[in-house]
Amino acid sequence: MYVMNIAIFVSGSGSNCENVIQYFSGSDKYCIALVVSSRADAYALERAKRLGVPSAVVPRSELNQPDTVLPLLCKHQIGFIVLAGFLPLIPDYLLDTFPHRIVNIHPALLPKYGGKGMWGHHVHEAVKAAGETETGITIHYVTPVCDGGEIIAQFSTTLTPEDTPDTIAEKVHLLEMKHFPQVLEGIFEQISR
Ligand code: GAR
Repeated sequence: MYVMNIAIFVSGSGSNCENVIQYFSGSDKYCIALVVSSRADAYALERAKRLGVPSAVVPRSELNQPDTVLPLLCKHQIGFIVLAGFLPLIPDYLLDTFPHRIVNIHPALLPKYGGKGMWGHHVHEAVKAAGETETGITIHYVTPVCDGGEIIAQFSTTLTPEDTPDTIAEKVHLLEMKHFPQVLEGIFEQISR
């Protein structure tokens, strides 16, 4: 049976990465075959090791070198890339090699609170400062426009005036844990059909 190999790109803690690895660990169709980190000190690398998933460090400077990255992805027969807290911009050669096969999770309801500098806690601080009554997560295709690709799915959560950037982050985290793997599975199923 054909197995789709997936790479997860990370830069930080890797809680989404771990959740996705665990979700697909029993699958005979979809295999998280590689974790790529832009930082050597990302905790996500420890998670990958504990879960027995091969990993590699590709610093920002090397990401722009097709001769470094493509052989790595080829070696692991990667057919799809998931960005889960990955901070560098995806270079054009990767978008060309994986057309409609790179998705990102963003911790807000795009198009609000997206773009350069909008990642992690910065997003939740901006949401709080604007007095929003809701926030959420967006899963979208990756294009050359930062956080601008076609939206695949969004899930929202209600905010109260008492919420702080930290409690907003917790609410968003719950949404990510609940929905991200299932949305990915839906995308993979569609591709495999
Ligand atoms: C997640 O909340 C993800 O949505 C966000 O980074 C966090 C990574 O957490 N991504 C962005 O901000 C991208 N612009 P994790 O490393 O624990 O999965």
